[in-house]
Amino acid sequence: KTHLLSEYAPYPFEITSTELLFDLAAELTTVTSWLTFERTSAEPCPMVLDGEHMTLLSVSLDDVVLRQDVDYQVDDSKLMLLHPPTTGVLSIVTTCSPASNTSLSGLFATGVHLMTQCEAEGFRRMTYFPDRPDVLSVYSVTLMANKTQFPVLLANGNLIEQRDLEHGGHLATWHDPFPKPSYLFALVAGLLACLEETIEQDGARKLLQVYVETQDLPKAQFAMDSLKASIVWDKKRFNLPLDLERFMIVATADFNMGAMENKGLNIFNSKFVLAHQDTATDFDFENVEAVVGHEYFHNWTGNRVTCRDWFQLSLKEGLTVYRDQEFSSDQLAAGLNDVAAASARAVKRIDDVSNLRTAQFAEDAGPMAHPIRPVAYEEINNFYTMTVYEKGAEVVRMYETLLGRYGFRKGMDLYVQRHDGQAVTCDDFRAAMADANHVDLSQFARWYEQAGTPTVTASGSYDADAARYTLTLTQHNPAVGIELQQEALLKQPLHIPFNIGLLASSSTHTVKAGEDLPLTLNDTSARTLTLSLTEAKQSFVFENIPCAPIPSLNRQFSAPVLVQFDYSDDDLNFLLQHDSDAFNRWDAAQQLFTRCILNNINTPAAPVFNDTQLSTLEHLLNNHDLSPAYRAQLFTLPSIPYLAQLIARTGRIDPQTLFAAHQRADDALALSFQSTWRTLYAQLNNGQNYVYNGIAAGERALKNLALRKLARVDSQAISLVQAQYDQCDNMTDRIAALSTMVQYHSASASAMLADFYQRYADEALVIDKWFAVQAANGHASHEQQMQTLSELLAHPAFMKANPNRLRALIFTFCNANPHHFHQVDGTGYNFWAEHVLAIDAKNPQVASRLARSLEHWRDYAGPYCSQMQAALQKVANHAALSQDVKEIVGKALA
Ligand code: ARG
Ligand code: ZN
Repeated sequence: KTHLLSEYAPYPFEITSTELLFDLAAELTTVTSWLTFERTSAEPCPMVLDGEHMTLLSVSLDDVVLRQDVDYQVDDSKLMLLHPPTTGVLSIVTTCSPASNTSLSGLFATGVHLMTQCEAEGFRRMTYFPDRPDVLSVYSVTLMANKTQFPVLLANGNLIEQRDLEHGGHLATWHDPFPKPSYLFALVAGLLACLEETIEQDGARKLLQVYVETQDLPKAQFAMDSLKASIVWDKKRFNLPLDLERFMIVATADFNMGAMENKGLNIFNSKFVLAHQDTATDFDFENVEAVVGHEYFHNWTGNRVTCRDWFQLSLKEGLTVYRDQEFSSDQLAAGLNDVAAASARAVKRIDDVSNLRTAQFAEDAGPMAHPIRPVAYEEINNFYTMTVYEKGAEVVRMYETLLGRYGFRKGMDLYVQRHDGQAVTCDDFRAAMADANHVDLSQFARWYEQAGTPTVTASGSYDADAARYTLTLTQHNPAVGIELQQEALLKQPLHIPFNIGLLASSSTHTVKAGEDLPLTLNDTSARTLTLSLTEAKQSFVFENIPCAPIPSLNRQFSAPVLVQFDYSDDDLNFLLQHDSDAFNRWDAAQQLFTRCILNNINTPAAPVFNDTQLSTLEHLLNNHDLSPAYRAQLFTLPSIPYLAQLIARTGRIDPQTLFAAHQRADDALALSFQSTWRTLYAQLNNGQNYVYNGIAAGERALKNLALRKLARVDSQAISLVQAQYDQCDNMTDRIAALSTMVQYHSASASAMLADFYQRYADEALVIDKWFAVQAANGHASHEQQMQTLSELLAHPAFMKANPNRLRALIFTFCNANPHHFHQVDGTGYNFWAEHVLAIDAKNPQVASRLARSLEHWRDYAGPYCSQMQAALQKVANHAALSQDVKEIVGKALA
């Protein structure tokens, strides 16, 4: 069944209060509900409640037991009350079995604990309810369970009562004063340890708790610190306070996604809570901080103001991703001087944009392409996408670019003030931004309506006599994905905030070559200007330009677009040396690498880089004015999936020739700068004690990049790798050494792999890394890699019901090992099909993510393309496919 945005209708009843009683046990849990309702529609109508995968025991209305088929009907997806009165209390008793719930949606068992995941439609697996985000209700929840087994009983809001019951039981009653939709409901029954602190805000003490397994308690402090920083940040930046007496975070090892913002009771994948230098990398620390922030920020953008329907998902997700990106950026910049702070922010921006370009641009160019507000879905869980989240965040960021930091804040204030306690739409957000700033943002609506990555093509002409430069921009928004099937679809020009700078190509009496020229358009003398591109084609004229400029386009990545400009190799080299915009300077390097790698595919015998390029690059690598973190980014080649996507825009991908050219480029960087890498490694490998912060992490990133480069071309470097592995005091350096060993010296890696396994056998998240490192080994032979894979699948530590482990082994192989996944005989694709089907039988959400690995099959050359198609067809033909996977493979094959 397809759900359509156009079919939205309000629910005809209000559920003013929801009382729930859970009698909890892993095998069988009984849920009793009391729903106080009031009809809001003018005419009498049936009351339809969602419900699935549970057993109905009884239904009563105002204490009178109702009769099936007389008073109500029930099928496998809903319960319908045939003649409900205008008001009343409906009481329903159901049972479900957490222990046999392998989907991890609804109430499920994880280790010895019971937890819930309700977004998007998990609540309906526990009790019958209008399980949609626009039905807000005030919840009181009582949990009963055996006290020895489940000493901790948590639900949303404030704890009202806790007491012992007979026969070793106990109960806890929780009340959440804020009306909320069912997807924000949560409960936890467990045997957990808790790290506890308090924080004062607006004169009130708030209790903060992080619940983890007892042995993980030493790894919970960083999440607690991140939570405190998030609370302070949201108050300072947006004046949004913590609104409950307590805020809880609970970690689970079994989770489909990253984390969930349940009101006052966030439940997290342990990967995004636990952080300690012995077991977590810098990247893990960064993610913990970002995800803790993200879920906390949802309290206002998502919970207090929620979504009218799931088509509006980006209303909360795009906005909250934008907020967590800003939080992380502010955290990185905290305490630094202006120059260092700007550089730290650029590093964060580069990470975010390269993620967007690799994964979201690809999504937007494939069969799953959708606008940030989709208009149709079969399974909503398939729309928790890069587009809704990351492109959605870019759309929010564009408001800030257009309205300024202060204007954006005024818009946010109005949005919260207008809509607190409501379930609203993306249009309401846009209206608040427009109204607070007295501007017209009607054209901006198209960002919510159109899919695909726009291309902005720029061309410049310089009139030396008039000292005038004219920049002409055209935007092109071709139909993509589902849009291709809509006849007579006319995509309209978008409102694009396009930041530019003009670099002096030669020195004049006012500026030196490479500096930014003052831009006098609209009477400003700024060095970076935001152009408002609103037409299909538009020219911008700059006066008093003393020499032919080289334009720096879409600075800071002000709009999520592809930019086309006919830069010569020399222009790119020039931008790489001089662009004052750190983001664009990095991008110049990316463009240069891209160009050289793609050229080299057809001229494999020629050098990948010429001498000019190499000398510019070497200067940059040695430029100590650039932070180590930034230099590590500059010298990270564009990824193979990103390059594949660019190739697919004009031709077909041959994954093996692409891989080979990418390898030659990496070899060239390693060999050409070998002595610089050696010096850098020696300088940065200075035996300092581990501390996590942006600067230290950047130094480790550059050091470990140097180590990889050395290991790649110098067999002697194996001793450096071994020494680092043995001597380091943190997981970042240890896993870098292990992965370098596995990739470049796989024949000698087995002792290190065995040692690593021994050391961390009890640390699930570290064992995930151990699996992932081996699944990603692009340098082994095909036979070796497939052999390793089957050994790992048979390994006692491979737990096929645990999503993190599945992601570590199976997803890593399918998504991050293009060399071995894309085998010409289709072995990799058959592996994919087999696992999509096996996982789908237990956990459709996870299977459906894996199913997306082949969605770009049409972009591939000859044998690969047809082999992928065959594998997709094999999955599509399977009889008992979930709705989740069916939608993905259906769209891929359509
Ligand atoms: N709202 C959560 C977050 O972004 C994601 C939950 C998604 N869950 C799902 N089953 N699709 O933080
Ligand atoms: Zn979110």
